[in-house]
Amino acid sequence: MTDLTQLQSDLTAQIAAATDVAGVEAIRVAALGKSGSISALLKTLGAMSPDERKEKGPLINQLRDAVSAAIAERKTALETAELDARLARESLDLTLPARPRRKGSVHPTMQTMDEMVAVFAEMGFAVAEGPDIEDDFHNFTALNFPPKHPAREMHDTFFFNEGPDGERKLLRTHTSPVQVRAMRKGNTAPPAPWIAAGQEPPIRIIVPGRTYRMDSDATHTPMFHQIEGLVIDKGIHMGHLKWTLETFIARFFETDAVTTRFRPHHFPFTEPSAEMDVGCDRSGGEVKIGTGSDWLEILGCGMVHPNVLRHCGIDPDVYQGFAFGMGVDRLGTLKYGMPDLRDMFASDTRWLAHYGFSAFQAPNLVSGLS
Ligand code: DAH
Repeated sequence: MTDLTQLQSDLTAQIAAATDVAGVEAIRVAALGKSGSISALLKTLGAMSPDERKEKGPLINQLRDAVSAAIAERKTALETAELDARLARESLDLTLPARPRRKGSVHPTMQTMDEMVAVFAEMGFAVAEGPDIEDDFHNFTALNFPPKHPAREMHDTFFFNEGPDGERKLLRTHTSPVQVRAMRKGNTAPPAPWIAAGQEPPIRIIVPGRTYRMDSDATHTPMFHQIEGLVIDKGIHMGHLKWTLETFIARFFETDAVTTRFRPHHFPFTEPSAEMDVGCDRSGGEVKIGTGSDWLEILGCGMVHPNVLRHCGIDPDVYQGFAFGMGVDRLGTLKYGMPDLRDMFASDTRWLAHYGFSAFQAPNLVSGLS
C-alpha cells in the first residue's frame, strides 16, 4: 500500500511542479498511458486472486481517478494562466487606421461615355439605343449604301450565318443604324424594351453604344464604342452642325484652346459629308490636344442624305438634319493620355487601377447633369 501512497504523492508533486501544459501531458503519458505506471498496476489485477483483487482493485482505481483529476485540474489551471499571460502580452491598438479595402473603379471608356453624354444632354439631346445585332437594312441599305456595292466592304463586317429566311444578321459596324430606328415612324414594335420607337421630327438624339469591325492594331479594336448624333428639324443647316460639334469639343476637353477644322469627305448617308479634325501636337511622341500645328481626325459628320430621310418616311423637302459619329474610346485615350487603345480592353487590373476613375469623385453623368 505504501507503494501506492508513495506513487500518488510522487505523481501529485510532479503534477504540481509542472510549469506548462506539455509538462502535464508528459506526466499523464508516464502514468496513465499505454505503458504508464498506473496502467501497469491496473494490468496486475487480472492475475490476482479474487480476494486480493477485492482489496487492491478499489485502491488502484482510486489512485487512477485521483491522478486523472489532478492532471485535469492542473491542465485547466495552466491553460488559463497561459491565456491570461497572452492576453496581457498582446494588446489591440484600436487607434490604428483600418486596412484599406480594395475598391473597383469606373472604366475609362464608361467614364468618357458618361462625360460625353452629359455634355450632349446639357445641349438638349436625348439618349437613344439600338441592338448590337443588326440587319442589313438598318446597318446599310436604309443608310444609302448601294446594294452589293463595295462600299459595304468599307466596314469589315462580322456576319452571322444565314438564318432560315436566308437573311444574314451582322454585328453593327457603327451606331448609325439607330438613326434609322429613331426616324422610322413604322418602328412601333421595338425589338427590345429599351429601344425607342420611331418618332416624328423634331428629333435630337445621341446614341452611345458598342460597335464591331474586324480590325486590331494600336488604334483599332474589334469591339469599340461610338456616339452617334442626329438632329432632324425644319431649317437645319451645316452651321448648326458646326456649332454643336465645336461646343461639344470645348466642353468635353474642358478648354476653349482646342482648334477644329472640317474637311470634305464621303459617307453614303450624308451629303455633304465632312470629317472633323482637332489641332494637336505630335512632336513628343504622344498626341497633345489644344497645342501644336498637326491635325487629328476624330469624327465623321454631315447633312443627312435625302435618301436616308426618304427611307425613314420623312419628306426631305420639309425636314433637314445633320448627323455625326465619333469613337468614344479614341476620345478617351486623347483626353486621358492613354497610348494604346487595346489596353482599354485587356482587362489588366493594374492598368484599370491606374487609369480607372473613382465612382464617387470623378465627374460623371449625374454630376454633369446637375
Ligand atoms: N458611321 C460612321 C463611321 O462609323 C461615322 C459617321 C459619319 C456617322 C458621318 C455619322 C455621320 O452619323 O454623319 O465611320
